[in-house]
Amino acid sequence: MSSYFGTEAQQRLQKKSDRLTPWIMRTPGACLTGRVLGTDDPDRLGWDVIHKHLVEDGVFSFRWVDQTGLERISQKVMDLGASLHGWQGYCNNADNLCSQINIGRERPLAPGLSLEIATDKSIPELQAFLADQGIAPLSGAVLAGQNCQACSAVIRNRTDAIVAAGFVGMLQNEHSPLHDCAWAGLIACDENERGKGLGRQITSELIRIALDQFGARRVMGFAAADNIASAAMLTGCGLEPTKYASYVATLSTTPFTR
Ligand SMILES: CC(C)(COP(=O)(O)OP(=O)(O)OC[C@H]1O[C@@H](n2cnc3c(N)ncnc32)[C@H](O)[C@@H]1OP(=O)(O)O)[C@@H](O)C(=O)NCCC(=O)NCCS
Repeated sequence: MSSYFGTEAQQRLQKKSDRLTPWIMRTPGACLTGRVLGTDDPDRLGWDVIHKHLVEDGVFSFRWVDQTGLERISQKVMDLGASLHGWQGYCNNADNLCSQINIGRERPLAPGLSLEIATDKSIPELQAFLADQGIAPLSGAVLAGQNCQACSAVIRNRTDAIVAAGFVGMLQNEHSPLHDCAWAGLIACDENERGKGLGRQITSELIRIALDQFGARRVMGFAAADNIASAAMLTGCGLEPTKYASYVATLSTTPFTR
């Protein structure tokens, strides 16, 4: 499987993230995001490390940041001329998710649609689909669950085309306060199929996989403040708004992903 997809810069970052995965998984404060280097505890990782990668890559991810953390990060990255793009964090624990959202009891898919777990063979098609929906792809190894416990799912239509997709994984290392929390993300539907419940169905299935197969005790998701559909989909699946957000610091003015 050719693991990399996207622009030259995106592929370079995916390769770097894959190459450094063993380091990310053993280093306190480092966290896997799948497409850029990241942290869920900047002070523990060290600002010298963060500055080095931000300057080298032009981008760096900060996961699960509260208001105090944001003020500190802003100060530090502004010094380098970077800007921050944020996504509101949503989360809930396994007990609430199981009882509140009736996982596994979602409406069945409409006739002609089928949900499957993406395989090595379908990963390049999935990456292309995500890119078409404006979502920066992750490396194939991450999407296929080769770098950590993770998987991707797709919904196909009668002609076998992908009409919806998503990903769930345990991306935080054992040192992280989020080590028991799965991330459900990269949820996207074909433009002509939105608003028909597919986003909610695929997200529910991914949450179910995280709880049943990965042993997650919590699940989190993220939505940009102006992405009303994404926020409604996450809350519809039982994830509640939190005081945390994730940020990507970029040295360019172009937002990194949706
Ligand atoms: C976000 C996205 C995946 C949602 O999938 P979807 O299949 O359109 O959403 P659903 O039909 O499952 O609807 C889920 C909820 O969102 C609401 N919703 C959907 N589209 C909406 C819209 N445009 N405005 C407001 N609410 C909307 C639905 O009413 C539903 O709420 P409910 O559960 O309270 O009834 C889809 O819009 C999409 O692909 N967007 C582009 C990619 C993207 O932004 N992904 C998120 C990356 S973080």
